Parts: sequence; structure tokens; C-alpha cells
Amino acid sequence: MCGIVGYTGCNQAAPILLEGLSKLEYRGYDSAGLAIESEDKIKVVRAKGRLHVLEEMTDNGRAMKGTCGIGHTRWATHGVPSVVNAHPHCNAKKTIAVVHNGIIENYQSIKAHLQKKGYQFESETDTEVIAHLLDSYYQGDPIEAIAKTMVRMTGSYALGILFFDQPGKVFAVRKDSPMIVGSTPEGNFLASDVPAILKYTKNVYFVDNMEIVSIGADSIHFYNLDQEEIEKEITTINWDAEAAEKGGYEHFMMKEIYEQPKAVQDTISPRIKDGEIVLEELGMTEDEIRKIRHIYMIGCGSAYHVCVSAKYVIEALARIPVEVDLASEFRYRDPILEEDSLVIIISQSGETADSIAALKEAKSKGAHVLGIVNVVGSSIAREADSVLYTWAGPEISVATTKAYSTQLAACYLIGIYFGKIRQTITDETYQELVEELMKLPDKIQRVLGDKERIQWFANKFAASKDIFFIGRGLDYGTSLEGSLKLKEISYIHSEAYAAGELKHGTISLIEKGILVVSVATQPELYEKMISNMVEVKSRGAYLMGLTCYGNYSMEDTANFTIYVPKTAKYFTNSLAVIPLQLLAYYVATARGLDVDKPRNLAKSVTVE
Ligand code: M6R
Repeated sequence: MCGIVGYTGCNQAAPILLEGLSKLEYRGYDSAGLAIESEDKIKVVRAKGRLHVLEEMTDNGRAMKGTCGIGHTRWATHGVPSVVNAHPHCNAKKTIAVVHNGIIENYQSIKAHLQKKGYQFESETDTEVIAHLLDSYYQGDPIEAIAKTMVRMTGSYALGILFFDQPGKVFAVRKDSPMIVGSTPEGNFLASDVPAILKYTKNVYFVDNMEIVSIGADSIHFYNLDQEEIEKEITTINWDAEAAEKGGYEHFMMKEIYEQPKAVQDTISPRIKDGEIVLEELGMTEDEIRKIRHIYMIGCGSAYHVCVSAKYVIEALARIPVEVDLASEFRYRDPILEEDSLVIIISQSGETADSIAALKEAKSKGAHVLGIVNVVGSSIAREADSVLYTWAGPEISVATTKAYSTQLAACYLIGIYFGKIRQTITDETYQELVEELMKLPDKIQRVLGDKERIQWFANKFAASKDIFFIGRGLDYGTSLEGSLKLKEISYIHSEAYAAGELKHGTISLIEKGILVVSVATQPELYEKMISNMVEVKSRGAYLMGLTCYGNYSMEDTANFTIYVPKTAKYFTNSLAVIPLQLLAYYVATARGLDVDKPRNLAKSVTVE
């Protein structure tokens, strides 16, 4: 999705903006641009394609003089990727420049209205209407013009704005699209995402919905829609700038795969004190937890897959019915939320548009909403009733790995904690599970040690057209994630099936030589899985088995077997997913693909 960076201070702006934009490349984009305030005008340079084109055009920014500016990476929604559709967009006199993340839903009616007044448009974008609308309202007071413009627009937006007659000032506003303001002694920053400014500052303000900000080199003022100044609190982000660098790895994805033991450790250990799980962050009393009658777990993509797996764990441990939903479905199906329901929204970015909408839907129906979120201060983190942060650190690769693993870990904590409070597990089981949970990071590390075998195997199947993943119970959840990981970065068609469903249609797709990855870690379902594997093998499938050490009979059926350490049956997903992440990674690299930035995908999907 699009990225925004803004800077005003005592240093040259363009090189800083380009560097900030490079930190947002992972979000996905197809063109980029800068607007810099110079002495006689606002200078705009835009380029189609990768950021290096813009860097070459501007001599890495050095050719654009000026200490105040805005930059943008665009992920096309309205209009093809092209120079003319790239941001910033300006009014006719080039005295106002705008960069925009989000979608203006009523842009056509605004455009028609402005065209009647004589405004001419050069791009196909929804964003250009903002520049002209601001122009139509601007009479020397930027806050007033911005407030009037906001009232006219529906949809989602984070905007960075320059007015030529307001030298040294960057203005910003947001509605349902993230925006932060960073403060340093050498100037102030605007960014749609933390990594863009992490090198310069960890002290940020989170811009809230319908707030307007005026940023000067040494001043930051916030206003509400009534144009009244408001006070905001500064927050310190605890991410390291190095965490957002590749650190010697070829790709962020591999680095993040390797960061999983630490990320899981960081998520679990602060919540286990003297052998007891402490989850005050849930903001729920023990009595409230005992009263929960229903849990709804909601997310998109991999976060949804965490929900699928967590359902098995939480239902088994806490004996609470768990309903799992895709956020994009939940938000529109007028869900029936019983009294004493808990809604859990899972999101790495905390900015996924459908997940935010699902959160609002749940809140409007009176449920307690718990966010499991990675990005501190993100929209979901702020709008949920309570937040359980996953401490994965910045995740840059589009394909999630460490955030997924930490989300699973957070769900295990909830399942065990609820089980203890509701007395649906014995004290003995509770202690065993807590001890086993603390061993997970080491066991994940051990699985990573098997990477050469997986790489060898991935090379063999890199030319596949279709790959299937099957599993039962929790292994079905793992299969869903393995299949998504593979298809999103390798572009190989892949599907995941609950193994018991094969005979209801899918088995007709099995042909000679097709790879079927069979996940079988659940003791009580192991024999059933072997039967399903035999069924597809007898139709010509090549079988990769994925099971726990000790289940060596797997080799009688599978053509190639990967083992993971034994753990509590509820936690096997955390280990089994690692070889599947590595498989996806090595298949994609064998095919020569851009693993970190797969085509058509964006890291956080902030539009519907
Ligand atoms: O930021 P979120 O966790 O809300 O993102 C949800 C999905 O967009 C995300 O998990 C997506 O499916 C990943 N690319 C999967 O690797």
C-alpha cells in the first residue's frame, strides 16, 4: 500500500525523504514522488517504478534544494501506475501539493462539482480532487481549508500537504489510515509507518482520526475538526532501527524467520512470572473471564489462520465455543453477538481496513474487544478495549512469519490462562503447559537447523504448477498457513484442505507427481492422516510428511519426511509452520522471485 514521509527542519529534506521512503518499500508500490518547498515554488518530481528511478532523477535528493517537503510511494488503486498518476498532486497554480494514502470514495462527485467550477484534472486518481478542493477553500488559513476539505470527503485518508505560502510547514490529517508525527531536535517528521523515521527518532505522536497537524521545524500543533488546538501525548517506540534492516540476510523474510525464537520468547516471557501466566493487559477480571460464553476470533490472511488454529487450542483448554471469522465477512454479516462475548481481533499491522471495520462492528454491539497487535499505537491497538501486544518487532517482509508465530503464542497464553481461571484444566496440566510453552523458542531454533534439507527439497519442486497441503485439527490450521506462504511468494497455485474433505471433491485434482504436503502432528489424528496420505499416494501424489520425532512410521508412506521436536499437542503448529515457511522461501528464491515484495501484494492492506 502507499507510504508517506514528510520532513521539515534544518537539513536538506529530499535525501531524508528518499531514505524514509526506502524504509516503506516493503509496503508495496509502483511509483514514487517528492514535493519540496523551494524559494520560488513547490518543486515536484515523480517517477514510475522503483524508488531508484526517483533517486537517479534527483541525484539521491541532492538536486532538490529545500528543507521542507513530502514524499510518497504509490500503490495504484485509481488509475494505472504512471508518472501522471503518481503523487504528489497539485492545484493548477502549483501552490498546494498533496500526498495521500487511502481511498476517497466520493471523489467522482467532488470532481464533477469542481469541474463545473472550472477546475481541470490531469490524472485518473482520487487524490487529485483533494488538491483542487483545498485550493477552492484556501484563503490563507490552512487549518480551515483542510477542515472544510475533510468534511466533504468520505472514505479513508492520511494526507501530507504543503502550502507554498506557509514556508517550513507540513500539514497532515488522517481518517482510518495510519499517520504518525516524529519529533527530533533537528526537525520534525511525518510518516505513515514507524520504520520510515526510526533512524531519526523513537518519539512519536499518533495522529487520531479527524485530527489535523501543523508541523514546523521546531513546533507541532494538533487541531480537531472544529479547528481548536488539542493536546497530545508523545509515545516512545521501543523498536531498534537495526531491527528494520536486513542485517546481512539476503531477504527480510529469512531474517524474520530466524528472529522467531526471540520474538516468541519476547512475547511469552514477560507474561510468565514465577511459573504463573499474568495477563493484566486483557483488562478483564477473573469473574468476567469465567462468565465468557462465546469467543469470536477475527483476522485477515495469516492472522485469520492464527484464529483457525487458536480455536482448537482455546476450545480445548478453556471450553469456550470459539467462532472464527474473516474480518471482511464479519463486518458485513450483521453478526449476532451474545451477551458475555469476547471478540479477539488479530493483526500484525493493526491497520488492516477490514479488521478495523470488524472491530468497530463488534464494539457497536457491546462486546469487549481484545486486540492482538504487533504495532504499538496502531489503530486497532488504540480502538480495542484492551490489547495484548505481540513483541515481534518490525516485520518488513510482506509474507508474515515472526508476527504469525507471536500471534499463535499470544493465543496459547490466553487459552492456558482462561483454562486455569475457569478450572477447565487441572493445576498439573497448567504447570506442564506453562513449562512447555517456555521451551518453545528453543524448539523453534532446533527446527531452523534443518534448513538445508528443506532447501534441497524445495529446489526439486520449484517448477511445480500445483501444490496441496493437508492436515486435520490443528494441522489443518498449519496447512492453511503453509499454503498461503507458498502461493503468495512463489506464485505457485496451492490449496490447503482438511484431510477429511479430500474425498468430497479435491481428490479429483490429484495427478501423478503432484506434491502433497501432509502435516500430521496430532497424536489422536495421526493414523487418520496416514490413511488420507495413502489415498493420494495411490493416485500418484508425491508426499512430503511433516510430523514429530518419534512418528517414524511416517516414512513408510511419505516420500520425504521432515520431523519437528515433540511438544504439547496444542503447540505443534508453532514448530510445524517453520519448515513450511522455509519451503515457501526456498521455492520462491529458486524461481528467482522477489521474496520480500511479491507482486500485487502490500504489507498492510489499509484499504478495503
Ligand atoms: O497486518 P495484518 O496482520 O492485519 O495483515 C493481515 C494479512 O494481510 C496478512 O497476514 C497477509 O495475509 C500476509 N501477507 C500473509 O503473509
